[in-house]
Amino acid sequence: MKSKELVQRSWAEPYKIKMVELVHMTTAAERKKAIEDAGYNTFLLRSKQVYIDLLTDSGTSAMSDRQWAGMMLGDESYAGSENFYHLEATIRKYYGYKYVIPAHQGRGAENILSKVLIKPGDIIPGNMYFTTTRLHQELAGGRFVDIIIDEAHDPLSEHPFKGNVDLKKLEALVKEYGSKKIPYVCIATSVNMAGGQPISLQNLRALRDFTKKHKIKIIHDMTRVAENAYFIRMKEKGYKNKSVREIVHEICSLTDGATMSAKKDALVNIGGFLAVNDKKTYEEASNLVVVYEGLHTYGGLAGRDMEAMAIGITESVDDDHIRARVGQVEYLGNKLLEKKVPIVLPIGGHGIFIDAKRFLPHLKQKQFPAQALAAALYVDSGVRTMERGIVSAGRNADTGDHYYPELELVRLTVPRRVYTQAHMDVVAESVVEVFKKRKSISGLKMIFEPKYLRFFQARFKPL
Ligand code: F0G
Repeated sequence: MKSKELVQRSWAEPYKIKMVELVHMTTAAERKKAIEDAGYNTFLLRSKQVYIDLLTDSGTSAMSDRQWAGMMLGDESYAGSENFYHLEATIRKYYGYKYVIPAHQGRGAENILSKVLIKPGDIIPGNMYFTTTRLHQELAGGRFVDIIIDEAHDPLSEHPFKGNVDLKKLEALVKEYGSKKIPYVCIATSVNMAGGQPISLQNLRALRDFTKKHKIKIIHDMTRVAENAYFIRMKEKGYKNKSVREIVHEICSLTDGATMSAKKDALVNIGGFLAVNDKKTYEEASNLVVVYEGLHTYGGLAGRDMEAMAIGITESVDDDHIRARVGQVEYLGNKLLEKKVPIVLPIGGHGIFIDAKRFLPHLKQKQFPAQALAAALYVDSGVRTMERGIVSAGRNADTGDHYYPELELVRLTVPRRVYTQAHMDVVAESVVEVFKKRKSISGLKMIFEPKYLRFFQARFKPL
């Protein structure tokens, strides 16, 4: 057996630990008080009150020694920083997009792109909504319409590519509104709100053919593109022997531009960008970026941040890296499945999503079951998770009613290169413990509701 094959027997991390950050332990009484003070919203906890933080995989990755070394090479010139040109070259090399504009994070890029491409009254079809993406589409006067396949809304469906687009739904929209009202289709790789579910290259190719015919752009939310590429390699016919790097490039080549939150896949604590192939869109976006983010060669970032991002992008498409990353998530998911905890299937790329409807069948959706479950998990063990259900879905901008999403989930999001297998064991033990006493969990009432992206700051109290 070759040594490489030996290594391949486990998902074990392809790195070792050089520096550690101490975490905080708390008592059950302290946690009970902390969640009360936080209005039963895990976003309002202080990080010192948290033991294992699975709130998000966003900006929470551990950077490598190379990335930290890159930080020392920060060229903090206002204009034309060397680090920008390194970042631009890296994006062209790995993703293939022509024009690059940095942004402070994903939503900064979404704001600019939405303002450039959307006119009031436009329709933006997409493979499931994402909170900030949809809000920027709406603020620009557009309306998001979900065209993901039905299986994506069913936590029990084991469809291997639940991120796929239902082309019939798109065709119906084009018939109803005409392609002039549809500036672009918004395609996320590793669909976050569906449970980190991938789109297949076959589906993306069919979408490319359809949109080409109707002169509609595809804009790629590439926040977790490497994880999607890994699933294509594992599950899609014909890709077993392709590298993640090659698959990432192929995905991007089927789209016209992208917004990126580099805080996820690209292994940095802050940063993002907008990338497009068409010069006119680039020129308009590079004009707008100076209004909202900063000059087009830094977009709200320090030179050192762009350097860390360039190096992070290179590390993110490494086969061994991505296999261990997804492997750790699968390890946690399998531990929960063994104990019959209801989670979204198949296991996704960036976290485990507990199905709160099946976990807490005694609660109605308007009693915020996922919010209540996230709070209960925190009280049990100090593990912090996030609601991805009715609170995150918000209200219909036209009618003012709650959206009632099919998926009422608690997301256990695994930061990249941060926690160990033993931490995953502790998380699983806590979820199983809470599952045993699930009947004692009561619903919540919302007592404070912000206008935008309410899940971040809303407050609740037990019913
Ligand atoms: N698109 C997707 C698919 C995301 O998951 C996020 C952020 C964004 C865009 C916005 O990027 O945060 O850099 O402004 N998701 C985080 C999460 C917040 O926890 O899932 P951002």
